[in-house]
Amino acid sequence: MTEPTSDWRDIPKVELHLHLEGAAPPAFIRGLAAEKGMDLSAIFRPDGGYRYEGFEHFLQVYEAACQVLTGPEEFRRLTLAVLEESASQGVVYTEAFLSPEFCGGGDVGAWREYLAAIQDAAMQAERDFGITLRGCATIIRHLGPDKGRDTARCAVETAGDFLTGFGLAGAEMMGRPGDYAWSFDAAREAGLRLTAHAGEWGGPDMVADTIRDLKVERIGHGINAIRDLALVDDIAEKGIVLEVCPGSNVFLGAVPSWKDHPLPKLMARGVKCTVSTDDPPFFHTTMSNEYDMLEQVFDFGESEFRHLAETGLAGAFCDEATRERVRKRLA
Ligand code: HPA
Ligand code: ZN
Repeated sequence: MTEPTSDWRDIPKVELHLHLEGAAPPAFIRGLAAEKGMDLSAIFRPDGGYRYEGFEHFLQVYEAACQVLTGPEEFRRLTLAVLEESASQGVVYTEAFLSPEFCGGGDVGAWREYLAAIQDAAMQAERDFGITLRGCATIIRHLGPDKGRDTARCAVETAGDFLTGFGLAGAEMMGRPGDYAWSFDAAREAGLRLTAHAGEWGGPDMVADTIRDLKVERIGHGINAIRDLALVDDIAEKGIVLEVCPGSNVFLGAVPSWKDHPLPKLMARGVKCTVSTDDPPFFHTTMSNEYDMLEQVFDFGESEFRHLAETGLAGAFCDEATRERVRKRLA
């Protein structure tokens, strides 16, 4: 296959599934490690990229990289670096998964300071790069339901114009979605909008349980729903939005290859699908690379890309004034 050429860099894009720490450019993490005298050489390859094999190891390397993010100032710098890169890919609106566990260990007071720094960087990026960010506080599933409740308390205390979403990420096969129902109920009552990773590694049962027990409006990935067409139809009928990350799925082996990716089938069956990068430097991708690959493999073009952006904006966890403001950027 020929190398992607970034033809689609300038078309306006909406990205709903991006892990803030996972979007950290390796050079940014290496630079912070050097500043702090920390040795993180084990997680980098000689060419400077992140070094890991498979999903479990990815999560470990991810957490090792996060060790250099020691305070609000580091997250302010990270947010600016990530948004500058996203804006350069044509992204005009993005939502990022934020982890109160990585931002003060689940302590509400500490989290407030981290979140303020992230929001401050978001305002600067909006002025400087023309990109809008909203935050989604996210449970790290493999840390268990008790830590999940700490995350929910942090989210509930800071829900507002900027922190608009609540999510569930991490090792999908640990426990069941219902273990997190208390946290999702609390977040919903605080007015937060809900999404959860499911059906990246788990089967249709994991997607169905997530919808039933956590009452989410969106699903992170959700691609394995394709194995149960009655479930696909239910997702379509309920209007649940899938945050599909094809490059991530191919790189981590959740699907065998690009041509096997179920995105076009899900769209054809009426499911609201969006496209995101997940953890772009870890998966050697960017938003324009995703678009280029979708063009090469599935013959997507301008009308599909405009549809994806509109679906993304309609499913975005922002207030209506923000949605209208961003809509003008998609024209
Ligand atoms: N999947 C699940 N959990 C994660 C990811 C991911 O891609 N990145 C960070 N946490
Ligand atoms: Zn993800």
